[in-house]
Amino acid sequence: MKFLKHIIALITIVFVVNAKAQTTNAKMNAFVNNLMSKMTLDEKIGQLNLPGSGDITTGQASNSDIGLKIREGKVGGLFNIKSVEKIKAVQKVAVEESRLKIPLIFGMDVIHGYQTEFPIPLALSCSWDMKLIEKTARIAAIEASADGICWTFSPMVDIARDPRWGRIAEGSGEDAYLGSQIAKAMVHGYQGDDLSKNNNIMACVKHYALYGAAEAGRDYNTTDMSRVRMYNEYLAPYKAAIDAGAGSIMSSFNEVDGIPATANKFLLTDVLRNQWKFKGFVVTDYTGINEMVAHGLGDLQNVSSLALKAGVDMDMVGEGFLTTLKKSLQEGKVTIDQINTACRLILEAKYKLGLFENPYKYCDEKRAATEIFTDANLKTAREVAAQTFVLLKNNNQLLPLKKSATVALVGPFANSKENMLGTWAVAADYTKPISLLAGLKNVAGNNATILYAKGANISNDKDFETRVSVFGKPLERDDRPADVLIKEALETASKADVIVAAMGEAAEMTGECSSRSDITLPQSQKDLLQALLKTGKPVVLVLFTGRPLAIKWESENIPAIINVWHGGTEAGNAVADVLYGDVNPSGKLSTTWPQNVGQVPLFYNHKNTGRPLGEGKWFEKFRSNYLDVSNDPQYAFGYGLSYTSFSYSDISLNKSTIKPNEKLDVKVIVTNTGNYDGAETVQLYTRQMIGSITRPVKELKGFEKIFLKKGESKEVHFIVTSEDLKFYNNDLKFVYEPGSFKVFVGGSSDNTKEKSFELIR
Ligand code: BGC
Repeated sequence: MKFLKHIIALITIVFVVNAKAQTTNAKMNAFVNNLMSKMTLDEKIGQLNLPGSGDITTGQASNSDIGLKIREGKVGGLFNIKSVEKIKAVQKVAVEESRLKIPLIFGMDVIHGYQTEFPIPLALSCSWDMKLIEKTARIAAIEASADGICWTFSPMVDIARDPRWGRIAEGSGEDAYLGSQIAKAMVHGYQGDDLSKNNNIMACVKHYALYGAAEAGRDYNTTDMSRVRMYNEYLAPYKAAIDAGAGSIMSSFNEVDGIPATANKFLLTDVLRNQWKFKGFVVTDYTGINEMVAHGLGDLQNVSSLALKAGVDMDMVGEGFLTTLKKSLQEGKVTIDQINTACRLILEAKYKLGLFENPYKYCDEKRAATEIFTDANLKTAREVAAQTFVLLKNNNQLLPLKKSATVALVGPFANSKENMLGTWAVAADYTKPISLLAGLKNVAGNNATILYAKGANISNDKDFETRVSVFGKPLERDDRPADVLIKEALETASKADVIVAAMGEAAEMTGECSSRSDITLPQSQKDLLQALLKTGKPVVLVLFTGRPLAIKWESENIPAIINVWHGGTEAGNAVADVLYGDVNPSGKLSTTWPQNVGQVPLFYNHKNTGRPLGEGKWFEKFRSNYLDVSNDPQYAFGYGLSYTSFSYSDISLNKSTIKPNEKLDVKVIVTNTGNYDGAETVQLYTRQMIGSITRPVKELKGFEKIFLKKGESKEVHFIVTSEDLKFYNNDLKFVYEPGSFKVFVGGSSDNTKEKSFELIR
């Protein structure tokens, strides 16, 4: 009876929620219909236009008289304009001086925080902590919306398996399952439960699709892959963001199957609208339409009509829609229905954001003054950053450091502020981040001795440095000769108990248009590191990076290595918290780190091939391997050490065969066997042994981050059902196939326990 009551209550709630949604939709439709009935063709086309403001530059410069265009109803939104004051002024022009008074939508690249910067997205993904990631997006939304922004070009969910590609920094790594969980968490963080509140902002999932699979890791390069791979290994995170309710999506620069994504009907209509039922709007990437001229698809008029017909609604920066759609309509190249559909979707987004009700909804000076860069947000940034660091090596428990030790802090990142932030920190104040030098002093206290010498520049190649800093300030450089800098560092090191070498990549050595063909440490830094090692003093290598590096020599020779990415505003404090052991590191890699760049692309969920190597073997003739390097990664997906250690029991299963409607309960007991309390991410993988198509050797299907006090044990359960075993077959049908499977559980993709089970009909 009680059960029945619950069911009735639940049905009533669903009914009420649905009825409310229907009324809201009906109201929205009536409003938009009415508005559109008053709009001229030019005004409709105007809504599809998204110029950049010129306030913050994120692409090649473009010039236009925006004020005049807004008055004439030729602008639908503006992006990268910063501050309530400016946004208010521009909105005023739209709602007071344009004929129909349609408000503008204001977007920005709020990628890993607004002014309080969190670690870069690749780092965040290494926390494997969805609540924490959602919290970073929530804080970013609160700060951005307090400053006038209602739309962010995030999350970036492109799967990336090639660390040469600089934009690997902006995504969540190589795995579609982990990427999907993060996509969902970020959309919830930005959008909250609904968009009507003034501190929620609209998400824009990007870059749809396959942007991370650029050939040779060169940005904007061609992408080409089978549909089976696309569906099984790349599309899931975009879909997860759409399913989570993302209000918009950005088409990518690259081509897919020979057609740039921005004119790709298969992607934008067949998959996005028809299969995934996406109801929001599609915006191009920066001049994505114009670039199709260079792609070789025709002149601006032609490519603009192709984009509209394929399913693009809004044109970022290039004004192809604005300048050609009317002509294309007259010539029968596009239809009025296509223009109406795009216009309607943009107006609906504005309606959902509440901009028609109150165009200044996000322009509250009081919020701007009190909700941005707050102490509470900085505290969270510090806590979050520490969760993203990955301890790669720690021989003889060199870490954590004693606060009483005399530390020689050397390297180009030891006293750097701006490189802490990482790429795409467009709203941040570059003077605000905490350097590692300041962080060590803060955490170790007044009595600690921290000696500092720069020791090397980021690179000795000045031309390279110029290319890196093409958009920003030149890299911080010490113009004394390299050997003088090293000598000074050695003198400093001679007075210390331990050397902390802060090395890696400048923020802008990753991100957009920052691909590298050589992903090792630059030579200037390697020279310094080798000299430091020769002193015989213990060396801790603290790596600041935006991508996996190839650090074979370092891994073989340096006793302790921790990768701290670009950790955001509080990076220096957070790194110090971990180096001194106030926080125990728990990050796990979301990308494979190769031994050398020639192994790339290298990823854990590869296929077996017809000539696999035996486990732990290298080299065998006529097997799939290299003469000069083993197939092993330097560090595997899912890998990351702690100051403590964890042991895993054997796996126990509730049954060895399951039917499609049954649950497999996978149990392990994890024990903290070391001397510190700590967190461990327990990972679950499966393998389908025989399939109608070849299947990966391992696939992540679940994970749980647990906290264990020293000596403590916990049972961890994962439920696996036939739904989890589904994949896209050769007909692109999402199916499970009965047969033999393996399940693996462990603390890294290359260190697991395993057990077999059968899925039967
Ligand atoms: C990038 C996008 C970004 C856009 C707007 C483009 O160059 O590819 O990720 O959102 O600029 O700044």
